[in-house]
Amino acid sequence: MKKSFASDNWSGVCPEIMDSLTQVNAGHVAAYGELEEPFTQAAEKKFKKYFGENSRVFFVYNGTAANVLAIGHLLKSYQAVVAAHSAHINEDECGAPEKFTGSKILEIETEDGKIKPEQIKPFLNSIGFQHHVQPKVISISQVTEKGTVYTPQEVRNLADFAHQNNMFLHLDGARISNAAVSLGLEFRNFTTNAGVDVLSFGGTKNGMMFGEAVIFLNPELAHDFEYTRKQGMQLHSKMRYIAIQFDRYLTDDLWKKNAEHANKMAKLLAKQLLSIEKLQITRPVDANGVFVIIPQEIISQIKRSYFFHVWDETTSEVRLMCSWDTTEADINGFVEEVKKALR
Ligand SMILES: Cc1ncc(COP(=O)(O)O)c(C=O)c1O
Repeated sequence: MKKSFASDNWSGVCPEIMDSLTQVNAGHVAAYGELEEPFTQAAEKKFKKYFGENSRVFFVYNGTAANVLAIGHLLKSYQAVVAAHSAHINEDECGAPEKFTGSKILEIETEDGKIKPEQIKPFLNSIGFQHHVQPKVISISQVTEKGTVYTPQEVRNLADFAHQNNMFLHLDGARISNAAVSLGLEFRNFTTNAGVDVLSFGGTKNGMMFGEAVIFLNPELAHDFEYTRKQGMQLHSKMRYIAIQFDRYLTDDLWKKNAEHANKMAKLLAKQLLSIEKLQITRPVDANGVFVIIPQEIISQIKRSYFFHVWDETTSEVRLMCSWDTTEADINGFVEEVKKALR
């Protein structure tokens, strides 16, 4: 089967992670990461190396849960989360944040998926007014759903704004490794050191099988999160299988190797598509996604060979995601298919 450009979670598990799963698959160890189970402890230690000794790490199954539980832990149901309209929590989690937190999402329209403090200011008028929900969390995605990456200063501006207004900053890091590579920085430069309070750390889109981490950088906020996770049905019983994947992911820069490759492939794809006259790249290729307008009449033909998602039906903008396993041959094949369809 030809590879798709639909999403980076259409790819399989990278060999290093697969090996780690096989290695851990022996004997009995304590369930739920309890009783100082060694694999979970080792993975938590690795995270602390990247995010600081004060960080608190909790493993969950998937990214939606990481977001919902992290945000929900900080909110009462009359409080609200401010996010970009395009945010995964707003558009692609089927209302899970609203259902499980009971809180409203206050949306901001953006051109590039990034929100700025000035855009949040109008919501502050609601503070202290009992008829309105009370903004309490700002949530940003790094990489954004429009393929862009916040600079550390942009994150810092949002964190300062949040803290000055008695709010918290959450970062959805489903693609945090691609962001780090794009910026050429360590994770902590745009998280811990930029004032983020809590983040969702993803690995599934970059070579893992499953498992995400909720990381509190403000450790006081982690208080009682183990109960939130359990009641939220996200306490994995065979915890070692999430832990070992993260341990391996954070060893020998595997996260970096995979993300560098995916980002590089996206740049190459964009370069090749740019040379085709009838196409238009619509957004900066900061990480591993390419957004491009492809004439509507040829989309279904190309999709028969290489699946991808149409991002905006009205403009015929599509999103092409590269993965840790995308090859130059995949890109050449796709580009050839586009050219053929245009002939
Ligand atoms: C920005 C973003 N956040 C979170 C997720 C996590 O989703 P899932 O619940 O499918 O792991 C995704 C997956 O598409 C995503 O793109």
